[in-house]
Formats: sequence, C-alpha cells, structure tokens
Amino acid sequence: MKTKFIQLDCNNIDNTKITEAAEILKQGGLVAFPTETVYGLGADGLNEEASGKIYAAKGRPSDNPLILHISSMKALDALTAGDCSLGRKLAEAFWPGPLTLIFKKSSLVPLTTTGGLDTVAIRMPAHPIAYELIRQAGLYIAAPSANASGRPSPTTAAHVLEDMDGRIDMILDGGSADIGLESTIVDVSAEIPIILRPGYITLEDIIGITGEAEYDKGLLHKPESEDFKPKAPGMKYKHYAPRGQLTIYEGESEAVVRAINQAAEEKLKEGYRVGILATDETLTSYQKGLIKTIGTRKDEKTIAAGLFKILRDFDGEQADYIYSESFYDNHLGQAIMNRLLKAAGYHIEKV
Ligand code: TXA
Ligand code: MG
Repeated sequence: MKTKFIQLDCNNIDNTKITEAAEILKQGGLVAFPTETVYGLGADGLNEEASGKIYAAKGRPSDNPLILHISSMKALDALTAGDCSLGRKLAEAFWPGPLTLIFKKSSLVPLTTTGGLDTVAIRMPAHPIAYELIRQAGLYIAAPSANASGRPSPTTAAHVLEDMDGRIDMILDGGSADIGLESTIVDVSAEIPIILRPGYITLEDIIGITGEAEYDKGLLHKPESEDFKPKAPGMKYKHYAPRGQLTIYEGESEAVVRAINQAAEEKLKEGYRVGILATDETLTSYQKGLIKTIGTRKDEKTIAAGLFKILRDFDGEQADYIYSESFYDNHLGQAIMNRLLKAAGYHIEKV
C-alpha cells in the first residue's frame, strides 16, 4: 500500500484534503491525523473490519480497546448507556480537550472496538484538523496513538511515517502535537471518577469539578507485581520504549549529574553508544555521550512535549544506553513520570 502524506496548515486548512481523508475513512480505510495530545490512527469505529485494520497496522493485541473520537456532545447519547451525568460534568468542563472518559457502552458499539469490555472510551479532541476530519466523515473515529505497538507515541507526522509507511492509506501532517503526552483517561462508569492514565488534565483538575476522584490502584505498581491489574488494558503492556536501555536516576540534582556522568563514562569505555536525557538547567554539566535536553524544569509543559520525541531521537542515533534525570511526581509530573517509568521498564537508580 502507498501511504499518502499530506501537509496542512492548521490556520488555513485545505478543505479538499480533509474531504479526501474523510472519504477514505468512510470506505473503511486508515488515516493518521494530529490531535493536541499525540497523533492518532483513525478508522470508522463502528465498522469492525475497519477497526480491525488498526490492530493489524499497529501490531496491537486485540484485547486492547480503542478510543472513539467525536466532534459533538450528541454522540454521547448514541454511544453510552445508563446514567452518564458524572461523565457529562467532566465533558462539559474539559471537552474538547485532552481527556478520555470511560462510559458504559450502548449496543451500537462493537465489542471488537472495546476489546470485549462493556465500557467504551470516548474523547472529543481539541485540534482543528481532528475536528474537521471527524465532522466531515460523519463517523465515530476509533483512534489509538499512531505508533507501532510498543514504540513511543508519535508527536509529529514524521514519527507516524517512521512507523506506518506502507501500512496505512494517509497521514495528515498538522505539525508538532502541543501537549505531547496522551490524554488523561478517567473511568466515569462508577460512582467516583478513577484516573486510569495520568495526563495533562490532572487529578486536582478532576476533583475541582466532581469534588472527588482517585488514581486506579493498578497504576501505582510495576506491571510484573502480583496485584497489578490496571483497568486500562493498554497500561499493562511495555510501552513507549526506546530501543536502548533507559535508566532513570533519582535524587538531589548534583548527585544525579555525577552518577550519570560516571555511568556514561563506563559504558563509553566499553564501546557503547550512550544517550543522556538532560534538562536546560543541567545541559552543560554533562561531559560525554549524546547529550540532549528535553526542556526546562521552569515549565514542565516543555518536558511533557519533548519526552516522546527525545526517546525517538535516541533511537535514531542508536543509543545502547540512555540515562535520564527524574521529574517531580505531582501535577503534570505524574504523567511525565508514568511514561518515563514505562519507557525505562521501571529501571530506577536512587542516588
Ligand atoms: O491522547 C490520546 O488519548 C490518543 C489520541 C490519538 O486521542 N489516543 C491514545 O489511544 O492514546 P491509545 O489506544 O494509544 O490508548 C488508549 C488507552 C489504552 O491504554 C486502552 O487500554 C485504554 O485507553 N482504554 C480504551 N478503552 C478502554 C475501556 N473501555 N476501559 C479501560 N481502558 C480503555
Ligand atoms: Mg498508545
């Protein structure tokens, strides 16, 4: 299959291109498109054959359910069942935006889309290209992140091309994703909102609307621990992984820099390629290796936005070992550390 690559200007979207992409989706094809979180790989979410192609293109396990992307609140009536007042409150507060809500599903939603679950994940993205595409297709668009299963999520169209060239019909290039981490997932199918995946919308943001909310207990454990049963099936897989072995160093900044410099020196001597994931604040403190800054600690949004790109960049430079600083564990830092820990296979050195 030849993958069409189409560049679009977010401020002046060429409608004929969106129409072409919408047509592919209506005919059961696959189109990757930008959202404000990461790029998605879209297909008609109610067409089992079409969403089946997503699993094949990504090499994704079939028990890992897909998020349905919508462009209007009316979709909630069609896709959900039972009382969804809790979810509606959050939807009204944060949609369109980087929030995915899990509702009890209606009979309209096929079990192939939900990985056999009786719940459905729904998100209204805040990106002009995503919005126009969903609207013009007139469909509910099933879209996981547009990476090959196990690789870091794509934050640019070039990342999508790296993983999906020849496997999908079209890629819409709308520039770099603003947020760079996947949406916060909140289960609103029971009484209290439960965060299944941390993201840009934080626990505090959710509590601000509903008065209470908590993290899924499965999130706090390593995947191999006995009691780890995350409610989002996707959270149990090794994810976001670069090809090199990533280690996170935790501790006071100077000690971290010293330990990373020492580890890098040793591996370089053994002939390996070594990557160092630094911040603007520490960039000049590292001496040897492929030293890259992820962003500034003064603005954790830059760190979130740079994470998946920097992991792919280390892959591009064939780093065998990657050493990273760690980040704070509150607000957006929760989401950053969640992704970084998974990428590292929970490999942490405390110094
Ligand atoms: O920001 C995002 O959410 C991006 C963009 C494209 O919208 N999408 C995304 O999709 O990250 P994906 O498939 O890579 O991650 C979806 C996660 C998976 O961990 C999946 O297991 C979980 O959502 N999920 C989907 N449906 C679910 C359900 N009914 N119950 C629990 N978890 C669910
Ligand atoms: Mg994903």
